[in-house]
Amino acid sequence: MKRLIITVIAVCCVPLLWAQQLTSPNGNLKLFFKTDSNGTPTYALTYKGKTVIAESALGFTINQNDSFATDFEVTQVQYTQTNTVWQPVLGQYKEIRDHHNEMLVQLSQKGSGRQLHLRFRLFNDGLGFRYEFPVQPNFRHFSIQQELTTFQLSGNHKAFWIPADYDTNEFPITTSSVSEIAQLIDKVREEPLVAKAPAPNVAVQTPLMLKSADGLYINLHEAALVNFPALMLNVAPNAPCFTAHLVPDKNGVRGYIQTGSVSPWRTVVVSDDARDILASNLILNLNDPCKIADTSFIHPTKYIGVWWEYFIGGGSTWAYTDNRDITIGVTDYRKLKPNGQHGANTQHVKYYIDFAARHGFDAVLVEGWNEGWEDNTAYNKERIYSFTKAYPDFDVQALHQYAAAKGVKIIMHHETTSSAIDYERQLHEAFRFMNANGYDAVKTGYVGPIIPRSEYHDSQWMVNHYNYVAQTAADYRIMVNAHEAVRPTGMSRTYPNWVAQESARGTEFESFNGNHPEHTTILPFTRLMGGAMDYTPGIFEGDLSKYGNNKAQLSTTLAKQLALYVTMYSPLQMAADLPENYEKHLDAFQFIKDVATDWDNTYILEAEPGDYITIARKAKGKNEWYVGAITDENAREAVIDFSFLPQGETFTATLYTDGKDAHWRTNPKSYSIKKIKVTHKTKLKQRLACSGGLAISIKK
Ligand code: NOJ
Ligand code: CA
Repeated sequence: MKRLIITVIAVCCVPLLWAQQLTSPNGNLKLFFKTDSNGTPTYALTYKGKTVIAESALGFTINQNDSFATDFEVTQVQYTQTNTVWQPVLGQYKEIRDHHNEMLVQLSQKGSGRQLHLRFRLFNDGLGFRYEFPVQPNFRHFSIQQELTTFQLSGNHKAFWIPADYDTNEFPITTSSVSEIAQLIDKVREEPLVAKAPAPNVAVQTPLMLKSADGLYINLHEAALVNFPALMLNVAPNAPCFTAHLVPDKNGVRGYIQTGSVSPWRTVVVSDDARDILASNLILNLNDPCKIADTSFIHPTKYIGVWWEYFIGGGSTWAYTDNRDITIGVTDYRKLKPNGQHGANTQHVKYYIDFAARHGFDAVLVEGWNEGWEDNTAYNKERIYSFTKAYPDFDVQALHQYAAAKGVKIIMHHETTSSAIDYERQLHEAFRFMNANGYDAVKTGYVGPIIPRSEYHDSQWMVNHYNYVAQTAADYRIMVNAHEAVRPTGMSRTYPNWVAQESARGTEFESFNGNHPEHTTILPFTRLMGGAMDYTPGIFEGDLSKYGNNKAQLSTTLAKQLALYVTMYSPLQMAADLPENYEKHLDAFQFIKDVATDWDNTYILEAEPGDYITIARKAKGKNEWYVGAITDENAREAVIDFSFLPQGETFTATLYTDGKDAHWRTNPKSYSIKKIKVTHKTKLKQRLACSGGLAISIKK
């Protein structure tokens, strides 16, 4: 590790054009910094001489209209270089290099005497910067009225965006120029399927993917979201420019800050090659190293679940009975009759455990096991759910023993319907219950508005809640998969037990006809920039009218469902369809059984947001590789260059391709499987159908 600190005492009071400059290790990126004529800190960023961010302001308005953005002067600047390697517990790479040049600018505000530090880190793949609020006399705490961080773009770029919303990120992704966002946003917000609190402005969420006319790919997001609200971005009315929009609490306050703390990093990942965006580890690198001393309980997981049957229409129910008047604490569930379709009943769960054991799955998710589902949205009760009381037909102990005997884990489910305070009240008891009954992973859920309604899903208080749940879970050696939580910001580096999240439109929306064929060609450039997604792929029977009166139809071919196990990174992967549908296609199911979920290395072979993605990965600790290629609504020819394989060896590749007549709408289940020999010299061209895919497993 190289570490070098040079301290420069800034002498100039009249800023030159740019007072400070920082260069990325490979020289491609340049960061410029100065304070302008108002004493406002400003920065700019270039990539190979092209403007990524033109001169843009930094700072805050705090308390009541108090400027924490003007009258600053630079008191000191420090430069540091870092070049280290670290190993994620689970990940896309066995080793990650953190190579960056850093500039710490110390500022003092004339008049108030308040100090503010700005820390910039320039990597070969982009920029991270954050605000630091050092401990200082007479400035102990403040509230944020507005963050003023600005991203002034060089042109009216193409944007891949979802509207800013304080409560949800489960929107379809829209592609338009930045200037078109204002016209389109109301229509996108009409999306009826999600509970929401739209931001009052024309604003979008991060991670935001942009492409410039001169071929730059730019991704705006944040890293290490701790004790701060989530960052959204206002779209300026007359210029291609974004300004920070922090999620407020109900009183309009956008964060309560005590000095001696830091903001999350604001991140700009940039390249002229889209593949570099997907290969970037910048956001993980900006997060703190692992804080869990013993990580031996954290493991990759492939699972099935009593789950899809709740979505297909006419299937099972989460609730034990149809009786809607039940109040926990008053009702004796044992006197009630189940409604006959209760999904989480012992017999049915055993059937899933048997299937999991037979096909080598690690775990079975069981939703609807606990008391409270009868009245889970009406909020008429003191306590909505119990996280320790099972319904009478779900035998916790018998199932624990049954699963353990078959080497399968049951994944706990804690749907809170956003009663976050009640969840915190029950948390320790709930985790002790899990420890006592053999559960080592929990899927949490935050459907609907937060209770009490003083907070939004993405506010500072809720950010602290999600972090608290993950940290507390680590104390109990439990892994977490959070649904409807604030989108991730690389915190899985610090808390690797936080194995995955939903936080975007996942496969459940296929059951409402809610996903577009291009959706999964964009998600890795947006939602997945911050961490793994529990997308829950693997739907083989895409025609839901088969089950009853749900008219929804899957937006992909079957081969594309297979490819998603490689293109949608997650150490937690579900085979989401009903076991009976896998029984009908055991040959294709073999790929899901084989595919790894934790990796030594990742090779982004082809990528263009909104169009296609082709990725190869080497399984952790094994001489096995898996390839996934997907396309949007257009058919295309994927080109797989096998040069990622070791030289001088021949391997057998099993290809799971779209059939010749495959088409996501008319013939999604047409696929074919063949084996070929490959070496590191092989180049394969393979046609993908409309919204089709290709999956390959490669073994000796
Ligand atoms: C929404 C989650 O995304 C889904 O996976 C879950 O089944 C339901 N909430 C019920 O908790
Ligand atoms: Ca959801």
